[in-house]
Amino acid sequence: MKKIINILLVSLIITVAGCNKNTTKEGHFQLKVKIDRDFVLLPVEERGREFRMKVAYPDKDEQEMIVLRLAQHQIDYWVKIDVKAYKGKEVILDFEHVDKHSLGIKNIKQSDKFEFEYNETFRPAYHFSPEYGWMNDPNGMVYLDGEYHLFFQYNPYGTRWQNMHWGHAVSTDLVSWTYLPTPLAPDSLGAIFSGSAVIDVHNTAGFGENAMIAIYTSAGKEQTQSIAYSIDKGRTFTKYEGNPVIPNPGIPDFRDPKVMWHAESGKWIMSLATKQTVTFYGSPDLKSWTLLSEFGNGIGSHAGVWECPDLFPLTYKGATKWVLLVSINPGGPNHGSATQYFIGDFDGKSFVADELPYPLWLDYGRDNYAGVSWSNIPESDGRSIFMGWMSNWDYANDVPSQYFRSAMTVPRELELKHNGKHLIITNFPVKEVEKLRGKQTVVPDRLIQGELVVDKILEDKKGIFELNMTIRPEDAKVFGFCISNTQGEKVRYIFDLKQKSLMVDRKQSGLTDFHHNFASVPFAPLSMNKTYQVKLLVDRASSEIFINGGEAVLTNIHFPSSWYNVLTFFTEDNAWKAENISIYELK
Ligand code: FRU
Repeated sequence: MKKIINILLVSLIITVAGCNKNTTKEGHFQLKVKIDRDFVLLPVEERGREFRMKVAYPDKDEQEMIVLRLAQHQIDYWVKIDVKAYKGKEVILDFEHVDKHSLGIKNIKQSDKFEFEYNETFRPAYHFSPEYGWMNDPNGMVYLDGEYHLFFQYNPYGTRWQNMHWGHAVSTDLVSWTYLPTPLAPDSLGAIFSGSAVIDVHNTAGFGENAMIAIYTSAGKEQTQSIAYSIDKGRTFTKYEGNPVIPNPGIPDFRDPKVMWHAESGKWIMSLATKQTVTFYGSPDLKSWTLLSEFGNGIGSHAGVWECPDLFPLTYKGATKWVLLVSINPGGPNHGSATQYFIGDFDGKSFVADELPYPLWLDYGRDNYAGVSWSNIPESDGRSIFMGWMSNWDYANDVPSQYFRSAMTVPRELELKHNGKHLIITNFPVKEVEKLRGKQTVVPDRLIQGELVVDKILEDKKGIFELNMTIRPEDAKVFGFCISNTQGEKVRYIFDLKQKSLMVDRKQSGLTDFHHNFASVPFAPLSMNKTYQVKLLVDRASSEIFINGGEAVLTNIHFPSSWYNVLTFFTEDNAWKAENISIYELK
């Protein structure tokens, strides 16, 4: 596949006023660009060093700060600054400590086109991924008037983490997404880190009835909490002039506000990650906040920093329980990033966890992080819908995609279930994911002895499919199935009933050497059952396995050189039965 970016350089002309006199301050180099096209294109070297630059627009007091890997040795791709509003005017690019004769400076161009190869090899078919650039956490997920909003941590100026904005997409069905312009950009208070969005039904903040209000971390010299509101269904936001609404109390890791309306006490509740605890704040109007309580000392995993908390109710047999999701990095059960959870009670002030064998993990795969639930889901629906970032801070910046980095998990419903010993939170694809189904192939039940290659079943699926089946272990102790390609690259799903665990071996899954701890065998504890219901969702660069409706879940990314087109069942000892096997192609 052609991987060279194809940019049509409609205009190569840059007006650089007073060439040698461009250096304004010591160490600064300024380009004054007379705008005659839609975009200024900046050449980037993927692994080059970072330069700080500022963009001064004729109509804005505040300059835009960008950290850019401006090409010095080679041009790997281009990023754009949208300047169509300034035709005939001058935009000033001010670079710090850059050689004005460098490759990057010489190649800055204007163009009416910004082109790149969208359908690159590892572009997911049905998982949300950014159009181009870097993405991490889902942010501000909120439902309003038929639209599910997905905001996300976004760098429009490169495919590595930097310049945090909120990107934006909407969907009416949770599976097909429309990209929208980036609504929140860094400002003098800092970058826009993770946060949430609510619909202010009763106009408590005074920005208007049903205003969409984003609550996010301003990450500047210190981390503080800010708000912004939208009265056009999330298309544009106005930052509140009283920001920050919560100043920093001297805690470096002080971020990721997740806000919900607590009807019983008639106030907004914010869960905030505060180093290795969650601090709860209350507010009548989203502007003035009071500290309520702190949770987390001495409970759960503390092997890393706590991030992206989410507190919300779930019901079990008609009774309300409160659950608290907390992402932690590093310190996940299989290395790096993961999401732990607590189940307990919340009285409008404090969260008290039930006595359970913590840490409990939502997903034992290596690639489900920073996930939280949608707010404002209509009561008639009533689901708690979750989505996570399908990557891991261990290697997220190095995964081998080209013009974009990372995707989200499929949206999943969270529920409370009993595992025979205690309550757990299950997570399972929302029913809307079934809309992706194309042709179904049903395979007769099989008794697996030794190894059985299921002929041709995956050949026409292009590596994008859903497998459902019932596993009946009988007397088998170590057994499972495997998806592989003609190069012998494979992902193996191994049920090890001796160890009471389900393992996903991606050691030979394809490209793995981009990071030393990517090739690995994450595993999840497995309860001992007579049968296991398996759902496996495979996309070009990921697989999500759900056992028994989401009691055990492993989400892992992989990068095969060609799609997996062979399904093999195997046992390492006694025979087992694969029943009700059905495979759908997914679109
Ligand atoms: C989690 C996180 C958040 C932070 C954001 C920055 O992945 O570290 O805590 O707000 O990413 O992009």
